[in-house]
Amino acid sequence: MGQQRDILVTSALPYANAPLHIGHIVEYTQTDVFARFQRMRGNRCIYVCASDAHGTPTMLRAEAAGVSPEELVAEVAAGHQAVFDRFRISVDNYLTTHSPENQELTASIYGRLVDGGHIHRKTIKQAYDEEKAMFLPDRYVRGTCPVCHTPDQYGDSCENCSATYTPMELEDPVSVVSGTTPAVRESEHLFFKLGNFEEELRDWVPRHVDAALARKLDEWFEAGLRDWDISRDSPYFGFEIPGETGKYFYVWFDAPIGYMASFLNLCRRSDLDFDEFWGVDSSAEIYHVIGKDIVYFHTLFWPSVLSGAGYRKPSGIIVHGFLTVDGQKMSKSRGTFINASTYADHLEPDCLRYYFAAKLGVGADDLDLNMDDFIARVNSDLVGKLVNIGSRCAGFVHRQNEGRLTEELPGPELFEEFAAASEEIASEYEARNYAKAIRRIMALADKANQYIDEEKPWLKAKDPEQAATVPGIATLGLNLFRTLMVYLRPVIPGIAERAEAFLDIEPLMWTDAQTPLLGHRINRFKAILERVEQKEIDAMIAKSGEATNSEKAQRDESEQIDFETFSKIDLRVAKVLEASYVEGADKLLKLRLDLGDDTREIFSGIRAAYKPEDLEGRMVITVDNLKPRKMRFGVSEGMVLASGPGGEEIFLLSVDSGATPGMKVT
Ligand code: 2FM
Ligand code: ZN
Repeated sequence: MGQQRDILVTSALPYANAPLHIGHIVEYTQTDVFARFQRMRGNRCIYVCASDAHGTPTMLRAEAAGVSPEELVAEVAAGHQAVFDRFRISVDNYLTTHSPENQELTASIYGRLVDGGHIHRKTIKQAYDEEKAMFLPDRYVRGTCPVCHTPDQYGDSCENCSATYTPMELEDPVSVVSGTTPAVRESEHLFFKLGNFEEELRDWVPRHVDAALARKLDEWFEAGLRDWDISRDSPYFGFEIPGETGKYFYVWFDAPIGYMASFLNLCRRSDLDFDEFWGVDSSAEIYHVIGKDIVYFHTLFWPSVLSGAGYRKPSGIIVHGFLTVDGQKMSKSRGTFINASTYADHLEPDCLRYYFAAKLGVGADDLDLNMDDFIARVNSDLVGKLVNIGSRCAGFVHRQNEGRLTEELPGPELFEEFAAASEEIASEYEARNYAKAIRRIMALADKANQYIDEEKPWLKAKDPEQAATVPGIATLGLNLFRTLMVYLRPVIPGIAERAEAFLDIEPLMWTDAQTPLLGHRINRFKAILERVEQKEIDAMIAKSGEATNSEKAQRDESEQIDFETFSKIDLRVAKVLEASYVEGADKLLKLRLDLGDDTREIFSGIRAAYKPEDLEGRMVITVDNLKPRKMRFGVSEGMVLASGPGGEEIFLLSVDSGATPGMKVT
């Protein structure tokens, strides 16, 4: 092995206003496997992270919860840190961006950018909420898309036609914070001149990101590098900009500086030297692991800010895709929006690390957590192939050899074959192609099991002529098990630690794969990993669905309606007289409802869930005083109440047969 390398790795700093979910774990797994691997290779690898404290969402959420932003951040960050511990994410330091180190670095970097001529001022127009007396970030204004006229779109882009615009261009804009129509106000902002770094970036970017990403970045260069607004007006939760009044650094300005701040905080408590890593002449490597949604910040803004402030740039930006669950976006109503702590309450964190690592390649492809596949893979690979080798062999060593491994292996070939795979597997980890590393390791696990199957120690143990060979066979089996643990240890550190306790050995290092463990006393085998059961998954999903209810209880005041508004809703019992398909509408059914003294015609999006003939005669609940709405197929004179996530899973709310059409629902 070459000289010891100095490496600093980071994961994107999670926002300090919400708990971590299993999507975050993809990123922490990707980073942690790399960090642990590097340390096992004997390199000095420091991993730092922090919670991203600032911004409008933190400020408003704290206000809604009746606490200060500092209190909210402290509480949420403590939760983040607990998740890091439970998932064995081996950060050397975890800070928040609302820390003295970050304030100090942010101010000094900003000062250097000002001195370097990289900041300029410009007055801009922005949506302003008169009632809350605050400027509104784009996402806090909603309204009708000016291009395709779809209602209820965000202030920056339309989900229907993908048009981008400013909140002022929306039709009927509404402030999400107060529900009022925003005004437009002018304010002077500070901009970072990204264009100053174009030449440097055009050279740097292609050499520091994956090839596919470099092509994407080309498009951004072609579109032109625009100046970046790094200031926000009061009220804002962040650091005040030195020399300005009522102006704060935009959260995305101080967030990446948080990587440095967390490292600086660690330096001040250890013998690490800040400049050795961040100085322009540094020979250390720095890698940022991020999701594909924040590439612009990390490949354009961040290296430019570093360069403009006289620091070195990162050695690489490592990008992963998004997580889907069972092929779909994570969804609260389906119970697939799973908080990391909920997962850890039900299942072994190493299993998820293993599953994600086995799917992580070099590109930024999205990856899917398929629950059936998860169960099959963990049970087959980790329990069936890996742990099983240990449990099969341990008993023979204890019964036949008083718990001691033999002094020699029955034959060196198989152990050597395993040892010889070391560098190839290492280079896959080095290239962050964990999927490939794991395929290679599991092929070895198959060989180890095959060896034991062929040797049949359980039969030989009963045959007086062959019994003496059994401890040797088991010793080789356990050495193969140990080599597999060396190779998998970056991915499944908890399982590896339990295996080390069983083998009674020091934490494994990468080179341990080269020398067999012989003549050594081992402990009795204790369960290292249990099989994953379907019922545990079911319980986790059920729990994740529930969380929505407690969240509902905490929803912002702006989403609540008062009693007076509620009491205006006239809910009535209605009987379905007739239900029919609507030609040309693949989601709708047309219903004719009996309301006692009157009949109504309404269109309802329940076609995937109900056949018309099943509905006739059924007692449903309808909103009777809804303004008639003109639809493409006719006028809908009300609405029937139903629940469920959608598609086939829509359930009409019904009432007992004792109720009669027209009765008020109270
Ligand atoms: O997208 C996010 O979750 C941000 N909080 C990431 C910040 S990464 C870094 F720049 F701090
Ligand atoms: Zn649109």
